[in-house]
Amino acid sequence: MGKIVSAYLEKNLKKAAEILKKGGLVAFPTETVYGLGANALNPQAVSKIFEVKKRPRFDPLIVHLAKAEEAKKYVKQWPVLAEKLSQAFWPGPLTLVLYKNQLIPSIVTAGLSTVALRVPSHPVAQRLLMEAGVPVAAPSANPFGFVSPTRAEQVEETIGKKVDLILEAGQSPLGLESTVISLIAGKPEVLRLGSLTLEEIENVCPEVKITKKRKILSPGQLKRHYATHTPLKIFKGQIVKEKNAAFLAFSEKPKTSIFKEVKILSPKKDLKEAAANFFSFLYELDKKNYQAIYVEPVPEEGLGRAIMDRIKRASYKGKG
Ligand code: TXA
Ligand code: MG
Repeated sequence: MGKIVSAYLEKNLKKAAEILKKGGLVAFPTETVYGLGANALNPQAVSKIFEVKKRPRFDPLIVHLAKAEEAKKYVKQWPVLAEKLSQAFWPGPLTLVLYKNQLIPSIVTAGLSTVALRVPSHPVAQRLLMEAGVPVAAPSANPFGFVSPTRAEQVEETIGKKVDLILEAGQSPLGLESTVISLIAGKPEVLRLGSLTLEEIENVCPEVKITKKRKILSPGQLKRHYATHTPLKIFKGQIVKEKNAAFLAFSEKPKTSIFKEVKILSPKKDLKEAAANFFSFLYELDKKNYQAIYVEPVPEEGLGRAIMDRIKRASYKGKG
């Protein structure tokens, strides 16, 4: 059906923008992961996102904007901290949660009084947002709870039938979702660790804290999320019982040869490279129906913290 089209052809970008304006769904690349976009000001269009993803209605969406200046249009207050963080990190992998005004329909925010805003830096996302001329609500373009897509083909294989167009632009360069920071309590609180590291935020905002709230504010915070269909286990040198298992290593091959397939996130031990490869390697291994995927822990510093967060949630065996 030719739903996947090159994002680098002007006519395809125009077509995508038209679809958004008319209330359709477009999957598009961002620097973090591929998003499933709809016009954020059109509640019916936004409602389709929830249906296609089978996303619970209590899980609010991020609104994507072409420019930082636009953010002020949709919020009640624009605190000094918002100015500081947006100046430092927009366009880029930062999402800010602020009190919303009445322009943002409540379906976008799952009824919350706050809205999550982000200005992506990917040139295709930028061009699409400019061309569409509307804010675009977009979660990661995967079925709810599963691995986020970093390539257009993954979107096509999972939810492709239900979207109107998929803009293709290769691999998302960062590979992990944006970092979500709430500014509603006065102090900045990280609700979800992501492509922007705690260290980078601390440089601008030393008072930043990772939220300790047990109530779920960000369903990326659900204990089980980013999951594979194949059971995922953290490798701690334990005995591997499965005869048909795969291994996702950080930087080198495991000493044992029991694994049917090994993928190495970053032979040069570069967390940035590991983050970029993480979801796509996991997705590839998941497709092959191994009995289990064992994942080696990565150092919990910088981007490693966000990778470990994904690994822990994807391997969590308890409920939600
Ligand atoms: O990198 C990204 O953030 C990607 C790309 C497409 O921009 N989007 C993404 O969206 O990861 P999604 O829906 O998969 O994750 C958005 C996260 C969820 O955990 C959601 O609960 C949280 O942001 N969120 C959205 N609005 C919120 C709000 N008002 N308060 C607290 N958390 C919010
Ligand atoms: Mg997601």
